[in-house]
Amino acid sequence: MNDMHEANRRFWNAASAGWKAMHDARGTWKLCHKDPSLVLITREMELLAGVAGKSVCVLGSGDNLAVFALAGMGASVTSVDISENQLAAAEERAKALGLNVSFLRSDVTELSRLSDESFDVVYTGGHVAVWVSDIDRYYAEAARILKPAGLFIVNEYHPFRRVWKESADSLEVEAAYFDKGPFLYNTASNVLDSASEAPVQYEFHWTIGDMCRAVLKAGCVIIDIFEHGTGVADWEAAPMNGLPEYLLIAARKKPDTV
Ligand SMILES: C[S@@+](CC[C@H](N)C(=O)[O-])C[C@H]1O[C@@H](n2cnc3c(N)ncnc32)[C@H](O)[C@@H]1O
Repeated sequence: MNDMHEANRRFWNAASAGWKAMHDARGTWKLCHKDPSLVLITREMELLAGVAGKSVCVLGSGDNLAVFALAGMGASVTSVDISENQLAAAEERAKALGLNVSFLRSDVTELSRLSDESFDVVYTGGHVAVWVSDIDRYYAEAARILKPAGLFIVNEYHPFRRVWKESADSLEVEAAYFDKGPFLYNTASNVLDSASEAPVQYEFHWTIGDMCRAVLKAGCVIIDIFEHGTGVADWEAAPMNGLPEYLLIAARKKPDTV
């Protein structure tokens, strides 16, 4: 395994208990299988309207809210994450909700345990690309496991939000938009307090162009690009009002791409 991804796996294993407690306090995981709109935006609900009975793979599944929402919509869902602790927490929750989900521990850049052309939909997002050192391989693997004409949805934290210095009242660029990293973080200063014993983590700042081009290079046709969200979360340390929160890219695998 890629050493930086291995460090990120250890980080997420250490952060998992705190992440779980945070989501228990929020409680959305108990509700989203019955009300997927708690997790999926309107545009995603439109794109996924026919998902009942279809096979879906969620990459970098993390809190698994998208997994539970999609399973609640009647899809047969495979949840993939690099962290065994994240998966264990999700598996426990799926059982509590009575949802039948398959879980696979794997790096999103190396999905050899999943067959070519085996899913109708691949879904990924939240904050996943930021942990992945090779976005081209990540999205190429996503496209490889998609059936021809299958739907690929990326809904990621907007790249414009990753460049700012921590500051309460002014926006000042800390890392140039085109500086992709790797950025090495010591978790002691990270928002995930429970991870203070965790190892370092590596982050990568992919641009909008990097993400769109990776989808295209993977042999997909982009059918929609939608920037959305206007809020600023309590953990965000710069006044980003007026900037988009998320970037949705929807694509279909070209039928002739294997
Ligand atoms: C912030 S979460 C994902 C987004 C999800 N919506 C959430 O909020 O939980 C990030 C997840 O990506 C996973 N991850 C990081 N790097 C990965 C990789 N190379 N392959 C697979 N999963 C990865 C982590 O283990 C973690 O569970």
